[in-house]
Amino acid sequence: MPRVAILISGGGSNMVTLVKAMHMGAIAATPVLVLSNNPEAGGLAKARDLGVETAVVDHRPFKGDRAAFDAAMLAVLQKAQPDIICCAGFMRILTAEFIDHWAGKMLNIHPSLLPKYKGLNTHQRAIDAGDKVAGVSVHVVTSELDGGPVLGQAEVEVRESDTAEDLGARVLVQEHILYPQVLANFVKRDD
Ligand code: GAR
Repeated sequence: MPRVAILISGGGSNMVTLVKAMHMGAIAATPVLVLSNNPEAGGLAKARDLGVETAVVDHRPFKGDRAAFDAAMLAVLQKAQPDIICCAGFMRILTAEFIDHWAGKMLNIHPSLLPKYKGLNTHQRAIDAGDKVAGVSVHVVTSELDGGPVLGQAEVEVRESDTAEDLGARVLVQEHILYPQVLANFVKRDD
């Protein structure tokens, strides 16, 4: 079974759905590590509660030296020997060297209908643009930020009264359905 490492920066709700789906056998893969750049990430305790090993590489001491930060992450990840890396609310931009290491084997979930709204504040940007439909994408990570091939998307209606928080909450519900489905298919494809 492929070994999966999950990168998080925050609450880790997507990570939890991925780990649970793997534990239930809905995804034919094993979660081997949850790695965070943020020692305060709420997802770390959730991962430990689910029995998954965790690690932290705090980005702050690297003071913007992305190559050195990524090298430290790589060293930690390599010990866990993952076959697939899933970014799940991981909020650091990775270097091309890091990404190349898992070329075609690294996925990310992004809260917009890519190619729309790469980067941050996706829900507010969709609302400001008057979009009637927003959503979420899971894509292969390439060195172009949020630019790799899209593997799956789910749409969410934008309501007149929506704040970014309202819309984000409804998109998150779809994220929790989409990411496990896409990873399950991705794993099967790679058999
Ligand atoms: C999710 O909405 C995810 O799509 C987004 O961060 C949130 C993390 O929530 N990711 C990005 O914005 C990546 N650029 P979670 O920690 O509860 O999974």
